[in-house]
Amino acid sequence: MTKSVNPSEMKRITIFDTTLRDGEQSPGAAIEPEQKIIIARQLAKLGVDAIEPGFPVSSPGEFAAVQQISRELQGTEIVGFARAVRGDIDAAVKATQDAARRRLHLFISSSDIHLDFQLRKTREQVLSIAREMVAYAKQFVDEIEFSPMDSTRAGIEFVIEMVEAVIAEGATIINLPDTMGYAMPDEYEALFRTVRAQARGGDRVRYSAHCHNDLGLAVANSLAAIRGGATQIEVTVNGIGERAGNCSLEELVMAIETRKDALKAETGIDIAEIYNTSRLVSRMMHFPVAFNKPIVGRNAFQHESGIHQDGLLKNRATYEIMDPEAMGIPRSMIVLGKHSGRHAIKHRAAEYGIELKGEQLDEVYAAFKKVADAQKIVTDDQLLRIIGESTDRHED
Ligand code: KIV
Ligand code: ZN
Repeated sequence: MTKSVNPSEMKRITIFDTTLRDGEQSPGAAIEPEQKIIIARQLAKLGVDAIEPGFPVSSPGEFAAVQQISRELQGTEIVGFARAVRGDIDAAVKATQDAARRRLHLFISSSDIHLDFQLRKTREQVLSIAREMVAYAKQFVDEIEFSPMDSTRAGIEFVIEMVEAVIAEGATIINLPDTMGYAMPDEYEALFRTVRAQARGGDRVRYSAHCHNDLGLAVANSLAAIRGGATQIEVTVNGIGERAGNCSLEELVMAIETRKDALKAETGIDIAEIYNTSRLVSRMMHFPVAFNKPIVGRNAFQHESGIHQDGLLKNRATYEIMDPEAMGIPRSMIVLGKHSGRHAIKHRAAEYGIELKGEQLDEVYAAFKKVADAQKIVTDDQLLRIIGESTDRHED
């Protein structure tokens, strides 16, 4: 299915994980500082390139968690998050002091609606704060990421002005957040292309995308940003985050992995750790994953229709574009239900070492159909019970 791509054409995409910062801003997804370290260890095992573990200035517990993660995870870049405010920067600098590799991530709003109603500042004032705070942060840390918040509603001229100003003061990564999940993919791609081409100094920095999912476009917009020249994508596990969430790590990574040929991009993620990571985050943040969520949802690789089941038994590629086991997903490939055929029942029994044939297969199939009619899905335990009862009868 996948055409091979010349390795020299492949763009390596940096995966910046903000599950523990923006993800934690999900309504209902609170987490204790001690649990952050457990999730951060798993993110490192998953192979993310950078972790934003929290907002150090926001509380002593949050500061301590960022500090501990910085001390322990010496193989992963740690990001200290801060508003363009001295106190925030000081806390982020201190909390990440012991990281082997670190960066600071500063942000300030860029759209008029935010400037007028939230910051109550003029564009000139905001530009001057951005300049001053990037210069301040640069004294402590070399790698400075800067985000003009709400950049997709700000107007391109002002975004370019702000980007030029912060590059001049030493910003090394420009993140263009789609804070409200408002952009369309072609607009977002164009934003990156234009800023890269027109901002003075724009060729000296790396570009990052940060997408929210209000219109269900976070992954599509992140892929569009890659086309526009972004080499870093900010994601969260299970797509958790403010409102409808952020770009989902597992969806983005598997889109890149599955369509390498079309996207000419790759990540350093160990996909075998995707399912474990998803379960851990869901459990620790008390945040369930929707049944139909791509990649990690309960139904993502379950096929109920008899036609699909039959096709899968002949060749899995008929109805699967990814191998669930490669992502650590336990193989329950086929959901047995009222649409399942005799062949699927026989196959599932064989997976348990039971050979069903002739009269017994007919009998089990008839009993199975009754249960399936009543409850739609038949679990393996129920099927085994049906087979057990029929075997007892056959042995009597
Ligand atoms: O959504 C957003 O704009 C953010 C930034 C502060 C990066 O989370
Ligand atoms: Zn965000």
